[in-house]
Amino acid sequence: MKTDEARNYHKIDAVIVGAGLAGLRAALEVAKSGLSAAVISKVYPTRSHSGGAQGGIAAALANVSEDSLEAHMFDTIKGSDYLADQNIVEKFVNEALKTVYEFEHMGVPFSRTADGRINQRPFGGHSAPRACFAQDITGHVLLHTLYEQCLKHNVFFFNEFQVLSLLIENDLSRGLVAWDIRNGGLHIFHARAVLLATGGYGRAFKVTSNAHANTGDGVGLVLEAGLPLEDMEFVQFHPTGLYKHGILLSEAARGEGAYIINDQGERFMKTYAAAKMELAPRDVVSRAEQTEINGGRGIGGKDYVYLDLRHLGQKKILERLPQIYDLALNYLKVDAVKEPVPIQPTAHYSMGGIAANMNTEVIKDARGTMVKGLYTAGESSCLSLHGANRLGTNSLQDAATFGRIAGMRMSAFCRENGYSDLPASPLEKAQAKIDHLWQKEGQEKHAAIREDLQVNMTKLMGVFRNQDDMLKMQAVIKELQERYQKVTVDDHGMVFNLDLIEALELENLLSFSEVIVESALARKESRGAHFRTDFPKRDDAQWLKHTLAWRRNGKIVLDFSKEVVIYPQYQPQERKY
Ligand code: FUM
Repeated sequence: MKTDEARNYHKIDAVIVGAGLAGLRAALEVAKSGLSAAVISKVYPTRSHSGGAQGGIAAALANVSEDSLEAHMFDTIKGSDYLADQNIVEKFVNEALKTVYEFEHMGVPFSRTADGRINQRPFGGHSAPRACFAQDITGHVLLHTLYEQCLKHNVFFFNEFQVLSLLIENDLSRGLVAWDIRNGGLHIFHARAVLLATGGYGRAFKVTSNAHANTGDGVGLVLEAGLPLEDMEFVQFHPTGLYKHGILLSEAARGEGAYIINDQGERFMKTYAAAKMELAPRDVVSRAEQTEINGGRGIGGKDYVYLDLRHLGQKKILERLPQIYDLALNYLKVDAVKEPVPIQPTAHYSMGGIAANMNTEVIKDARGTMVKGLYTAGESSCLSLHGANRLGTNSLQDAATFGRIAGMRMSAFCRENGYSDLPASPLEKAQAKIDHLWQKEGQEKHAAIREDLQVNMTKLMGVFRNQDDMLKMQAVIKELQERYQKVTVDDHGMVFNLDLIEALELENLLSFSEVIVESALARKESRGAHFRTDFPKRDDAQWLKHTLAWRRNGKIVLDFSKEVVIYPQYQPQERKY
């Protein structure tokens, strides 16, 4: 890496945006290949949201009982409500074992079976105990281990930097511009390859399990660059969010045997998924919970039900689920050994994201035309792996596996391609964003607009959707976008100006939320996490296809010509659990 400090200019082989599992895994791969890799992150790396993933990482190791790659593949396809591209699922399940053993060799402290193998627990929608885990802090230990490996292999870190523009010209990525949050000022990162691994965007919703940093900055930048997002209507609601806070209480609890009960003390999943009960996939369980709540069977008629761990006993709870125990105690003053824990569905995961092929290369159209040198992996990407609904523990696996693949592809690209010229005025777009917020006259405050967006997205774009609500949300977003034009930032300071950062994030939140709404309005069927009460059935004849969305001349343009890859042996069937 070469840095010209006077110009805040950095020249690096590969720049990786995001220090979660996907970003770090990619950076490690690049650095190990002998090239320079820099990770840019708006938070300190070990605070990335991958650390919030609790219950496990999926791989068909068959350490606890019989399992197979075919079973993992089928479960993932069925879980996706048949929208996953099956060639990607195949690649994913094949690579998954290697990914877990690599982590083991890096020193990840997995929980163990009595005979010393990596322990595995059941998880929703998986037909075998497939979740390799470390208590209920799996993401945390994977993230810390990877960060140590990155430091060991001399990955450069630019912590607390916010990316403001992508430098792409003629379908070729040339680098990016980022704001130094700690000191102020714009920096140019001139790179041969760029990876966007910016994570999820649950912060568009009021009730969410996502970290405050998850504002969809990567997807916002891609939209701004005129590139497409894919399958954005599919937002996953996790069934066990801590009531009112939305904080994740891992599905590991149900994997270990916890129940979900309604006001009558009934395990109501018997009505909705008699075979799998609480271990049905998340879309099914969240809908069941919301149906109970809407039917007045929430606890005390309110908008929550209970997660009941009491029968597991103190020893198992504290040994296997210590984080969940602490979260319930600290946030709700509920002792999960003695009392059931109030829960509700919480916006958790984005199946949609930046459109890319199975090699993590960003594409610009339904034909798969690549934007050279630009890659994406992890939750910000849509490789069409999870389709309309992701199975729990497939996300850590996705991030790590496709992070590694992205690193390999970027290294190969860097070896074959020199540095491309930067655009004539590389800072122009990023500077204009800041000037706009600092210089314009206006009365609006970003916090109020963000709150309105989140409250309405939770109310109108939640577990159940319908045309009227979505049209209301469409109007709300339009109004909020108009208000955003009048936002001013009072703080003009350079050091940790979070007033400025939050205003910049809001532009991204508004931008991709519009895509969620437009894509959901267009898809007139119910599939996976996208459930419309006005179109309650899946409609393969019309809708077995991906949604691509671009922002063009200020409007969202949709295209449905990208087909789903289906193998003869995994034809769509009715999905029963
Ligand atoms: O429930 C959980 O532990 C979440 C895991 C995941 O989203 O994969």
